[in-house]
Amino acid sequence: CALDQAQRQNHKNGHYVTDAAIDTIARLLEMPRIRVLEVASFFTMINLRPVGKFHIQLCGTTPCMLCGAEDLRQAVETHLHIKAGQTTKDGTFTLTEVECLGACANAPMVQINDAYYEDLTPENLLTVIDNLAKTGQASSGSQSGRRASEPQGGLTTLRDCHTENSGKEAGC
Ligand code: FES
Repeated sequence: CALDQAQRQNHKNGHYVTDAAIDTIARLLEMPRIRVLEVASFFTMINLRPVGKFHIQLCGTTPCMLCGAEDLRQAVETHLHIKAGQTTKDGTFTLTEVECLGACANAPMVQINDAYYEDLTPENLLTVIDNLAKTGQASSGSQSGRRASEPQGGLTTLRDCHTENSGKEAGC
C-alpha cells in the first residue's frame, strides 16, 4: 500500500511514515488526512516514529505468550538494555510488542524487518540478534530445526502405505 511504500522509501531516515508523506498520500487518494492516519495508526506494520536498523516486533498474543513470549521479551530487554517501545542508543535495534503475526503454529516468534524468526527460545533469539548486530544477517524461519510448521516430534501421519480401515497395504 502507499503507506508501506512511503515507509520503505524513508528507510535511511528511520523507516517510518512522516507527516509530509501522510499529507501527500491523502492528497493522492483524495481522502481526508485523518483517514490515512487512522490506517497508519491501526497497523503495527506502519511506523509513525523512527525505528532502529533492525525492528524486532515480538508477538505477545495468547499462543506466543503461552509458549514463552514473556521470557523472550525479558531476555531481549536485558540483552539490549531497552524496554519494549524503545531503541538502543546506537540506533541498531528497536523492540516493539505486537499482536498476532499469523505464525502461531511456530510460536513463540518475532518479526525482524521483513523476516520471521520462529520456534524461539531466549537463547536462539539472542543468537539471531547477535548475528544481526555482527554481520547484518541471520537465518530466518524456524530456529528449532523443523521445516516450516511440520510437527515438532517428526511426522505422525502418512508415514507408510498401510490403510487405517482395511488393515491392508495400499498399493503405493
Ligand atoms: Fe504469535 Fe499468532 S499468537 S503469531
